[in-house]
Amino acid sequence: MPVTLTVNGHRIDAAVGQSLFAAAEQVGIRVPTSCVTQGKCKECVVEVTRGSNLLSPSTEFERHLDARSGPFRLSCQARIIAESGEVECHTMRRGQMRIERGGLHLPVTHETTALDPAVVRDGDRIVDRTSGETLECSSGPIHGLAIDLGTTTIVARLVDLETGAPVAETSFENPQRFGGSDVMSRIHYDTQHPGRLLMRTLAGYLSHAIAELPVDPRSIYDVVLVGNSTMRDLFFRQSVYSIGQNPYRSITEIEMAEGKRSTTSLTTTGRRSLLPIHPNARVYGLPIISGHVGADAAACLLAVGLAHEDRLVAVMDIGTNTELIVGNRDRILAASCPAGPAFEGGAIACGMPGLEGAIEDVRLEDDGTFRLGVIGDGPPEGICGSGLVDLLSELLRTGRMNALGRFDDEIDRMTIDADRDIYFFERDVNELAQAKGANVAGLQVVFSQYGIQFEDIAVFYLAGGFGRHLKKDASRRIGLIPNLPDAKIVQVGNAALEGATLALVSRSRRQEIEALVKKIEHCRLETHPRFFDFFVDGCQFRPLESGAQVNE
Ligand code: FES
Repeated sequence: MPVTLTVNGHRIDAAVGQSLFAAAEQVGIRVPTSCVTQGKCKECVVEVTRGSNLLSPSTEFERHLDARSGPFRLSCQARIIAESGEVECHTMRRGQMRIERGGLHLPVTHETTALDPAVVRDGDRIVDRTSGETLECSSGPIHGLAIDLGTTTIVARLVDLETGAPVAETSFENPQRFGGSDVMSRIHYDTQHPGRLLMRTLAGYLSHAIAELPVDPRSIYDVVLVGNSTMRDLFFRQSVYSIGQNPYRSITEIEMAEGKRSTTSLTTTGRRSLLPIHPNARVYGLPIISGHVGADAAACLLAVGLAHEDRLVAVMDIGTNTELIVGNRDRILAASCPAGPAFEGGAIACGMPGLEGAIEDVRLEDDGTFRLGVIGDGPPEGICGSGLVDLLSELLRTGRMNALGRFDDEIDRMTIDADRDIYFFERDVNELAQAKGANVAGLQVVFSQYGIQFEDIAVFYLAGGFGRHLKKDASRRIGLIPNLPDAKIVQVGNAALEGATLALVSRSRRQEIEALVKKIEHCRLETHPRFFDFFVDGCQFRPLESGAQVNE
């Protein structure tokens, strides 16, 4: 009986000696490659979730895939060596991943912004207005690309730069996961492995995504790229070592402080970017704000119109590193909170990302049974972040867990779905409590440094994919967000991509963000004298009021 191989959910019989790459092609799955399976491009990485012992040992081309990063292999190198058994793997481009593409309820969008792109037509020439250079002599179309490089997901939007109209969007899972799932692991990985493997792998995936867009890639003359400081700097082949070391500065910030550059934004050409766009194309990385508060947060500020805001507003993007920005046109404070991966399902026994099969909605009925909402409506496989917030809220609401995160009845786990072996442990609550404590401490420090109360805020924007799917009631009940009325809390989805699009279609928006980021004060949480008190208090599950719970 041959080995049964499942690639991205497609099953085939695989023969001894067959590579995972060849098997994937056999079932019609195109694995990224640009070295024709020579082991050189590092793009064909797959995650083996079952039966890795039925595969040939790692080759010299796979030395960059640390075992500690997970069971990743180059599919062109890993071959079936057993006569029978089961192997399961998937490419990094998991189709069922829920990826936030759009922004919602944003005050500023590319539709409401006057078209003023950096690259324009001038007679039969295509010209970069910033430098005055001719990029091409052509009467063909002029396209631009806005890219949000997330640690977990990548989203890109293609725009016709002569009309400002979006033409297409594409998204995929960030293939850099073999270098770790959070930015600190990626920094460590990049520092330990020469050859810019993270950047090259991402460029390979992006190139394939661009090649699949419905236009000639060489008609793309301008790219605006946003992402957290690490993702952005990796793309531009900057050293990210200093972002991982106290005081957590991008090399661009350090150089700016030394007077070597006037902005933290980065630019390169199409040719140097390794993307299949026009070789003379401009590739612009938005400036970062400070430390881990990166170009994605800066893009959010464009989309919420902070430079024009008289009212006090806050932007919170909850994630492994939660970003917080508070202020208005006169004064802005920003901070990043190292919350860890718990609210993204990491470090939780039955946690998982927001994929098909994740429990995202939980209701505890009077009879003690759980009513579950599952992404994709299939059987549950685990609980994602919004499901965890719901679950904590329901346990609190029904008194089955107290504010300290202790379960009643002297039990140490809750059965969520016995048939599917899905349980929620008290130790999971501890992980979530600490992640929440870091977020709360960030909020308390930033607001206290600004000298305002939560209720002084006119709009509290919840940005990002996680914020988009949170229930306001549940989030307030457990104290993940301030106790503000519904009308003040606005869930804006992927505001970073919208901000990148704004900078793509409008030179004045680029100038706006370049000026705005220089005005932002960076709030260093760990040096605040009350940080630890705020953190300890924030670990409790109760509604969050301004500094009131911590004794002065
Ligand atoms: S296809 Fe290039 S490394 Fe495998």
